[in-house]
Amino acid sequence: MNHIISPLDMSVDELEKLLDLANDIERDPAKYAHVCEGKRLASLFYEPSTRTRLSFEAAMMNLGGKVLGFSEAGSSSAMKGESVSDTIRVVSCYADIAAIRHPKEGAALVASMASKIPVINAGDGGHQHPTQTLTDLLTIRSLKGRLDHLTIGLCGDLKFGRTVHSLIEALVRYENITFILISPEELRIPSYIRNGILQKENIFYREVVRLEDALPELDLLYMTRVQKERFFNEDDYVRMKDFYILDANKMKLAGPDMLVLHPLPRVNEISVEIDNDPRAVYFKQAQYGVYVRMALIMTLLDIHL
Ligand code: NCD
Repeated sequence: MNHIISPLDMSVDELEKLLDLANDIERDPAKYAHVCEGKRLASLFYEPSTRTRLSFEAAMMNLGGKVLGFSEAGSSSAMKGESVSDTIRVVSCYADIAAIRHPKEGAALVASMASKIPVINAGDGGHQHPTQTLTDLLTIRSLKGRLDHLTIGLCGDLKFGRTVHSLIEALVRYENITFILISPEELRIPSYIRNGILQKENIFYREVVRLEDALPELDLLYMTRVQKERFFNEDDYVRMKDFYILDANKMKLAGPDMLVLHPLPRVNEISVEIDNDPRAVYFKQAQYGVYVRMALIMTLLDIHL
């Protein structure tokens, strides 16, 4: 059984095929409109979400399938004390594939071990968010034409930002990737990534505090929101939340081809004044999220045209 719990659950070759399929779906969505007829996706969301949940549901509907699920823990039996393992065993009787988002790190893995259907990790606490990474990779490959030879700035909450953790894990498998990790001291990348991935794999990286210092050399800037819900105290969050604000003035320091990505939701870290800058691609990125999730559902259900 295939589950997607971490971005490394797919080899580079499998990923390439998935992105090719996503691009084909983008070119001709009508061709795929019925391939999942009779199939059901369960969306099990124990944490807030707009894009991830709705893009999964839209993806299944676009393929002709149906969707069931819950969008908050409060409306599920989690409130009665049911474990994730029990929930997924039961959901396995109702659906063909499940996407699960949970505040606890490792929850999707635990679910996958009890599941009879493919489980997709739609975010587990501050740990991983592999389908956002697929979205990011599709965006980068489609708009830059490659996933190698890139200098990538990752900016903001690198400590709790699960999208950043998954993206780094996925990108270190490509040639000549340089990371510039831009964060305040308190929100630096966790050491399991710095030592366990970047140093271990001999990846070029640098940690800086000032966004201005990095901007001129970047091919991509990946902005992130300070993850309010993962802070232990409100004061720390308030102190950190507006540490970075990307605005039109700062964009002048960047090259003409530097793309700005953001998994969204945005709070204050990107000023709306740059939304119409052609380099700002975060809303396109959200659209790519639907295509890549359509491709992922087809792949995990082993459905071909
Ligand atoms: C991200 C997440 O949930 O980690 N959102 C998303 O899925 N697009 C990023 C965030 O919440 O900041």
